[in-house]
Amino acid sequence: MRKYIIKTYGCQMNEHDSERMSYMLQNLDYTETDSYDDADLIIYNTCIIRKNAELKVYGHLGAMKALKKKNPQLIIAVCGCMMQIKEAREVIREKYKHVDIVFGTKNLSSLPYLLNQFHIAHERIIDVEETDDIDELQNAIRKNKHSAYVNIVYGCDNFCSYCIVPYTRGRENSRSNKSILTEIRSLGIQGYKEITLLGQNVNSYGKDMYPPMSFSELLRQIETIGSVDRIRFLTSHPKDLGEDLIDAMRDLDKVCNHIHLPLQSGSNRILKKMNRKYTIEEYTEKVDKLKSKIPGIAITTDIIIGFPGETEEDFEQTLDAIRKIRYDQVFIFKYSKRVGTGAAKMKDQVDEDIKSRRFQQILDLVNDICYENNSEYLGRIEKVLIEGKSKNDPDKLTGRTESNKIVHLNADDSIIGSIVDVEITGFSSFTLEGKVAK
Ligand code: 5AD
Ligand code: SF4
Repeated sequence: MRKYIIKTYGCQMNEHDSERMSYMLQNLDYTETDSYDDADLIIYNTCIIRKNAELKVYGHLGAMKALKKKNPQLIIAVCGCMMQIKEAREVIREKYKHVDIVFGTKNLSSLPYLLNQFHIAHERIIDVEETDDIDELQNAIRKNKHSAYVNIVYGCDNFCSYCIVPYTRGRENSRSNKSILTEIRSLGIQGYKEITLLGQNVNSYGKDMYPPMSFSELLRQIETIGSVDRIRFLTSHPKDLGEDLIDAMRDLDKVCNHIHLPLQSGSNRILKKMNRKYTIEEYTEKVDKLKSKIPGIAITTDIIIGFPGETEEDFEQTLDAIRKIRYDQVFIFKYSKRVGTGAAKMKDQVDEDIKSRRFQQILDLVNDICYENNSEYLGRIEKVLIEGKSKNDPDKLTGRTESNKIVHLNADDSIIGSIVDVEITGFSSFTLEGKVAK
């Protein structure tokens, strides 16, 4: 039997694409391994959102040269967002000659065909399609056995000036609600308790359909699927977050009280240069509505620091926004220049040491706020979906509250996969501790 490894970089979309490739490979009688020496096929599913992600891929690929020498039968494939960008493809073509197969995000389902072609001809294949057609068939072998990713909308039409995603994932394209519902029904039958709907911008789901359909309507349809208990979604664009979605989150029992709402910056001047199409006032108004209509909602965000031209005053406004909104988690990113995007051409790129200092300042502030937010959980009984053993401490189990907080607890393995009442007995800035409630 042939063995494969898929090395995944980047976001949940990529993780799920890898799960879909696993399905295709296992259908071809491949089995998964974690030993590079045993592998017959290694696939790199790449990310290009920041320079670091790109450098990691080149580093790992470089290390594969020696392995390929030792085992010339080994097939090395590279796919994902990096391969949608011509310059990165050229680097692979010229400098990484030991890579056998290159494909893109749009022709993931060609993988079996490409492998077959390679086995017949033994010639390097570079096949990246530009189509915006989407695969409605979404079979996957999922890593998590209790919580499943489901694609609902591909691509992004927003062109935020720092972001390369619109160039790697193409235009917004919604999957039909019929195939989404069919997939979720089948996940329910397989025993999945939670699903996470995926899209670069889930709030624009259905706008491209005829007749158009809203994301809140899709949520209402999914709510009726009996066997699934929890619905989550990622990611929301603040400009498209309508009152109808807030009301759906309030009304629908299964939709979790957590929203990831990337702010990026608290300065209107920078938001404008980022092409985010909202002001900090509009954003805060939506957050206030979320908090008043959905008590206990957890709000998480992404912040970019050191965007071109970001002054100390702009940065202070970001700190102010974080203080005011009191996020439950903040993913902080140093601005990374991506060739081909609008911001790459902007003057006043910010020095690395200023970025590092601002990064640390936000981190300190966020740690304090998260600690205070988490302290409010002490003594509460929370519904926790138990996902498995804790990675850091095999004697403990780990799960998530509806608000997406990680909880560690000592309990019997038999509760893995179920939603149980947990009393919160401890906390840190990042996680909660608990015990099964009587
Ligand atoms: N530099 C730094 N961070 C970026 N992001 C997207 N593009 C860049 C970039 N060029 C961040 C944004 C986005 C998250 C997924 O990645 O904050 O919300
Ligand atoms: Fe990138 Fe903006 Fe689209 Fe998000 S909404 S993927 S940040 S362009």
